[in-house]
Amino acid sequence: MRVITCKNYEEMSKTAARLVAGQVSLKPNCVLGLATGSTPEGMYVELARMYQNGELDFSNVSTFNLDEYCPIDKENDQSYYYFMNKHLYSKVNLKPENLHIPNGSAKDIETECANYDKMIDSAGGIDLQILGIGSNGHIAFNEPEDELTAGTHRVELTEDTIKANSRFFASESDVPRHALTSGMATIMKSKKIILMISGKNKSEPLKKLLTGKITTSCPATMLNMHADVIVLADEDAMNG
Ligand code: F6R
Repeated sequence: MRVITCKNYEEMSKTAARLVAGQVSLKPNCVLGLATGSTPEGMYVELARMYQNGELDFSNVSTFNLDEYCPIDKENDQSYYYFMNKHLYSKVNLKPENLHIPNGSAKDIETECANYDKMIDSAGGIDLQILGIGSNGHIAFNEPEDELTAGTHRVELTEDTIKANSRFFASESDVPRHALTSGMATIMKSKKIILMISGKNKSEPLKKLLTGKITTSCPATMLNMHADVIVLADEDAMNG
């Protein structure tokens, strides 16, 4: 695991965007694994700027997002589809047929999850996965548990996560209680991973990650078993 300390959120975002741009230049038809939430927003701004300046071409890139609330319609302004459309899809030349997010309104959840993993495999697997981290150490919505799940699955969100995400909703009771999420194996099969960590409230899970110990009570620590992970942490997360 390579750890890069960035001065602040802006530097972390620009570094992540440069790494994504490097991947796209190296393999124009690459498969990107993408995350939502506050952490990657600045990276998306930078990627959109690079595209608008003619520095990046997404026309052959495919994307798979990590997760989506469940149940939720994609038109709902709290859905992760809506987030991705606002921050990336509407800003760059990704082809609609190449964008993938688990369908949070699917009737048959099991089939939806199994098909999502199959689609990733058929696309050749994820070349570069972008991750954020929860203050409880979750990655995607793999929450701290005695057992973690390998493939894409439906999960019950923890109180910590509901509280943390309530900032995007009118009230805490509006936060969906479930989500569809990539599993740990789905994430670990990615060829490269960039974990972005920003803010004092993320210093605890970062500390746990950097001990090199692996525990399901902090799912991000599993990344210690992956051969190609870059952690981009800002000084607030590093020193907090
Ligand atoms: C989002 C995701 C989550 C977030 C995490 C941190 O797609 O998979 O694991 O990365 O909850 O969220 P923020 O960045 O909002 O602090």
